[in-house]
Formats: sequence, C-alpha cells, structure tokens
Amino acid sequence: MVMEKVIEVINLTKSFGNNAVLNGISFTVNKGENLVILGKSGTGKSVAIKCIAGLLTQDEGSLKVFGEEVKDLEADALKSLRCRLGFLFQGAALYDSMTVRENLAFPLKRVLKIKDKAEIESRCIEVLRAVGLEDAIGKMPADLSGGMRKRMGLARTLVVKPEIILYDEPTTGLDTITSKEISHLILEMQEKYDATSVIITHDIPCAKITADRMLIMDAGKCIAEGTYEELENNDNDFIRSFFK
Ligand SMILES: Nc1ncnc2c1ncn2[C@@H]1O[C@H](COP(=O)(O)OP(=O)(O)OP(=O)(O)O)[C@@H](O)[C@H]1O
Ligand SMILES: [Mg+2]
Repeated sequence: MVMEKVIEVINLTKSFGNNAVLNGISFTVNKGENLVILGKSGTGKSVAIKCIAGLLTQDEGSLKVFGEEVKDLEADALKSLRCRLGFLFQGAALYDSMTVRENLAFPLKRVLKIKDKAEIESRCIEVLRAVGLEDAIGKMPADLSGGMRKRMGLARTLVVKPEIILYDEPTTGLDTITSKEISHLILEMQEKYDATSVIITHDIPCAKITADRMLIMDAGKCIAEGTYEELENNDNDFIRSFFK
C-alpha cells in the first residue's frame, strides 16, 4: 500500500534569538495516521506543531502539508489550509462572553460559512455528545469545571471536522478517567473521519491508546521513532525512561 504523506518535515530549524529550538528535525505523517510526539519540557514540541499550522515559520528546511510548502503559501492559500487543519492549543481558551453553543457555532459560521441554523445546531449537538457535554450547551464557559473546559476546547477544534488535527497536550490536567475518554475520542476521530493527527503528550496511557507511531524529541531533534512497543522496549535507557 502506498502511503500518502500528509505532513512532511525535512531538516527543520528554528531559533528565537540565540535560542536554537529546532535543530534539524525531520518526520512524516501519513494520511489517517496518529503520530504521538514525546519529549521533555522545552524541547520544541509546541514550536514544531506551530510551524505545521503556519503560526510560526522555520528558519531553514522544508515543511509540506498536503504536498505544499507552507512557507511559500500566499495568504489565501494559507487560509484555506487552516480550514482543513484543527489545532487544540496547550491551555485552549474559550470565548468567555459566549455560551458553549455560541463558542461552537462561531467556527462553523466563520470558517465553514455555514448559515443554516438547523445544521449548525445539529453539528453542535453531535460534537458535544462526542465529548460528553451535551447538557452544557447553554452554559457559559465560566460555569464549567476545568475538565469540562478542556473537553469544550476539544469540541471546538473538532466541530469543523478538520482533516489534520494537531493536539498539544490534550489530556494535561485531567483526571485518569477523563483522560482515557479524551484519548478514545482522538481514536474515534481517526476512525470516523479518517483524520490525520499529531498528538503531543506527556500522558503515557494516552500515547498507548492513540499512537500508530511515536517520535521522541530531545533538544530540538528527533532521537527515536517507532511503535509504542518498540520504544517502550528500546535499548536506550533515556528512551525507555519515558515509559516508566
Ligand atoms: N514565540 C516564541 N518566542 C520566543 N521563544 C519561544 C517562543 N515559543 C517558544 N519559545 C521557546 O522555545 C523553546 C521550546 O518551547 P516549546 O513550547 O516548543 O516547548 P515544548 O517542548 O512544547 O515544552 P512543554 O512540554 O513544556 O510544552 C522554549 O525555550 C521556549 O521558551
Ligand atoms: Mg508545549
């Protein structure tokens, strides 16, 4: 079977002043695949996926999404790329002055230009059901618990059914049971919508549930790649240490 490369990163570098954050990182993500990235704090994981989303531009190297070099895209093309791509930010923020329903309707109207009220409502309900928040539809974000806000941030990312989903620590700060639910939801997105995902996490059970393949990053480089089982049983102590 020929794999379709949806994301292709080659020798990417990125510095902020004299802080060299990405030092020649390379990896690919195939269509329909869940790639999990592990790495210590400050190793450039968030910077790497912000480059993929076109929020940061690399200094050197190539970064192709859907076969197109992101840094060469004109404003309009970048905008249409962003419509196909969902980003769950680390510490996702909600619009505090809008209800849960309005928070979800907003990207449907603005990004997908959907005008039909019944369609907007049914998509809001569908995604809220998926994250287990259907009872919260009329609530304000301030009235949700931390875990509910996190699930709500996920709902807002998923409501536009992106083809690529970038998850930056989707389960951080959640209890074990809710974390597992979110991890299964990530799997469901892959199975139901054939989404391609990059998942940054420190949560090993989440990695085990979601990963088709994993990367370990250290000091702005990719130091290992393999399945969960391969990396868990790697010869290298440092790589094995992530799984303990
Ligand atoms: N916009 C920015 N301007 C300047 N420096 C930045 C910027 N974004 C990130 N950095 C720096 O890049 C380095 C890597 O940050 P990054 O957020 O990618 O780490 P991370 O691997 O995601 O860590 P964590 O696991 O803690 O989230 C840090 O030293 C950070 O200070
Ligand atoms: Mg980060």
